[in-house]
Amino acid sequence: MINAHIVVGARPNFMKVAPLFRAMSHESWIKPALIHTGQHYSENMSDAFFSDLGLPPPAFNLGARGETHARQTAAIMIAYEDLLLAGKPDWVIVVGDVNSTLAAALAAKKLNIPVAHLEAGLRNFDRTLPEEINRIVTDSISDLLWAPSVDACENLRREGVDPAKIDLVGNIMIDSYLMLSETISQASMAKRIGIPAGKYVVVTLHRPANVDDPNMLTRIVDALRQLATSAIIVFPVHPRTRTKLEMAGLIGRLQHENIRLIEPMGYVAFMSLVQSSALVITDSGGIQEETSYIGIPCLTLRTNTERPITITLGTNQLVTPETLLDAATVAISRGPRLPSDISLWDGHTASRVVASLARHAKM
Ligand code: UD1
Repeated sequence: MINAHIVVGARPNFMKVAPLFRAMSHESWIKPALIHTGQHYSENMSDAFFSDLGLPPPAFNLGARGETHARQTAAIMIAYEDLLLAGKPDWVIVVGDVNSTLAAALAAKKLNIPVAHLEAGLRNFDRTLPEEINRIVTDSISDLLWAPSVDACENLRREGVDPAKIDLVGNIMIDSYLMLSETISQASMAKRIGIPAGKYVVVTLHRPANVDDPNMLTRIVDALRQLATSAIIVFPVHPRTRTKLEMAGLIGRLQHENIRLIEPMGYVAFMSLVQSSALVITDSGGIQEETSYIGIPCLTLRTNTERPITITLGTNQLVTPETLLDAATVAISRGPRLPSDISLWDGHTASRVVASLARHAKM
């Protein structure tokens, strides 16, 4: 029997582990335990995802908090090391690129526990972003690297990772979406919010590069106000973004009859909102993939993406606050696109991950 920790911490982790936990629970040779670092702790940033995704409560919640990156990462490492010392698992599985991913991988490797990284190999080659550092360091110490796409495998090989450690498994986010697609379709969030399906724009923003700089945030808010003269905007506001909007005195500028500022939503509600939208404007990573898969146009307010396949084969386009309005107008008038057909984005990634772990863990 292989005891495996699956470590989660922040919102984008929860949907990624749900299909994996489910697939592992059906296997007799592996016993998965969910470990929550506590990085995200609010009801609507964490608990809502566990109930939506049918995840059991975590076996342990480390409750680790920290105001800065170093403090947050260190708090998770210290708490997780204590847990690992109390009972070492055979494998530690980390997902994505958040501080919890890096912290758990480091704590485990220092105790010589093998680490597997789900969503390995994504790079945007911009080391000013905290996620890029988390990705590079986590991949460099992982024993097993589960890549979502061919470009991710190439990045890993270029960095000198032993090809025997890399398995191309596909995109786990598509498993999560397909697992819940019926529930998502029935959720009818647009109707519940009282907005016309197919005729509104969903906005999400939280990256430090966009929201921490008051000048950049002002440019984005002004672009959204302009867009609101011709489109309804629904904007679930991330807690850090709300704080930054308030600090910069910009909340008032978003008071507009066509702009709905709402609280962050759970997975099913949010995906329902996206599914019936005309366009999504975001700086998230996962949403670029989800919109590409469904065929909803996506404008990403960043200068680069670690998910280039969403641009070459999907519906994604990079924009600045200054190019946003024109790009949005074109995307809305063009209408929905055909869902993207990207290799291994097929809902079977979790079973490929389980098969890969069986090959490596039982060696
Ligand atoms: C983190 C990830 C980012 C991911 C994002 C999704 C890192 C480096 N960043 O950024 O990659 O896309 O999660 O949300 O790991 N807060 C709450 N309640 C919560 C969580 C956060 O109020 O449940 C507030 C707190 O004020 C906190 C701030 O949001 O200090 C930022 O949270 P943090 O986890 O540090 O980073 P995110 O911006 O959420």
